[in-house]
Amino acid sequence: MSRIFSGIQPTGNLHLGNYLGAVRNWVRLQHDYESIYCVVDLHAITVWQEPAELRRAIREVTAILIAAGIDPKKNIVFNQSQNPDHAQLAWIFNCVARLGWLNRMTQFKEKAGKDRENASVGLYSYPNLMAADILAYKATHVPVGEDQKQHLELARDIAQKFNNDFGVPGFFPLTEPLILGEATRVMSLRDGAKKMSKSDPSDYSRINLTDDADAIAQKIRKAKTDPEPLPSEPAGLEARPEAKNLVVIYAALADTTVAAVLREVGGQQFSAFKQRLADLCVEKLGPIAGEMNRLIADTAYLDAVLRDGAGRARALSRPILDEVMDIVGFVRA
Ligand code: AMP
Ligand code: TRP
Repeated sequence: MSRIFSGIQPTGNLHLGNYLGAVRNWVRLQHDYESIYCVVDLHAITVWQEPAELRRAIREVTAILIAAGIDPKKNIVFNQSQNPDHAQLAWIFNCVARLGWLNRMTQFKEKAGKDRENASVGLYSYPNLMAADILAYKATHVPVGEDQKQHLELARDIAQKFNNDFGVPGFFPLTEPLILGEATRVMSLRDGAKKMSKSDPSDYSRINLTDDADAIAQKIRKAKTDPEPLPSEPAGLEARPEAKNLVVIYAALADTTVAAVLREVGGQQFSAFKQRLADLCVEKLGPIAGEMNRLIADTAYLDAVLRDGAGRARALSRPILDEVMDIVGFVRA
């Protein structure tokens, strides 16, 4: 049977990249698969989080997921720390994964930066926890943006090594990434070489899912482009990363392809195209922000969703963890 798992960090500033690369695909997949969507608060604390802000962000992300169209009755929506099975399996995976594997992870290198000695140990072993998130449910498919591909390959390596070492072929599935849509890597609005990111110090680099219509329009108007008009074919965007990014965003929001967009707008100046893009962004994101603002006020409802989700998640993971404990040789007396 197929089972979907995916996670998102509650670290503020959910943006258009999170939406097009992940959340929108989750909304679409929920009808075809048994789906588990997790607010990964244990991953969030791999870098310092102010406790009050973390608490707020966990509820805000939950509200955004529901506002974007995820049905928490049909699916499981919960925060990671409420199911201890993730952390328990992650410890076992700390003992399966090899240092050499983690040393290759580019996200750690980016996030730790130059001051690597001062990064938390959690930031380093982050991908092992991510593998545990997925494999605690034996999830078969994981919808994510392109930046998570390397981590998912590591999850496969861990599954395979566990299965081999303990002589349990096929126990953990080799999970498939689902990297879907036109916009699997949305870039910064200020720099076409950098991905749109929650942690970019410039708010003008991203469109937040909480931005109002004015903020969206202003950010798109100020987005970096080049002086050339739009080309008529995708090849004409190749050496123009900022221009390409805006067209990709438009195509994804309009649910069409880059080629189809260019057939329509090829030859236009960017000023006119930016106006269309802003209107489309407001049309698609505005209702999500509105619903999110309504939900965020209802802490009792959001907490009830998370509590219910955590209970249902644990009911799925516990039997798998029990089996893992037996396989490893622990005594469950
Ligand atoms: P994070 O914000 O790191 O918790 O990421 C949550 C999800 O959003 C993951 O599936 C990421 O791959 C996806 N994502 C984050 N940034 C981008 C981006 N700039 N473009 C596309 N997908 C993204
Ligand atoms: N590392 C992912 C990110 O930053 C979030 C994440 C944690 C995740 N656990 C996961 C994604 C399990 C998919 C599956 O985007």
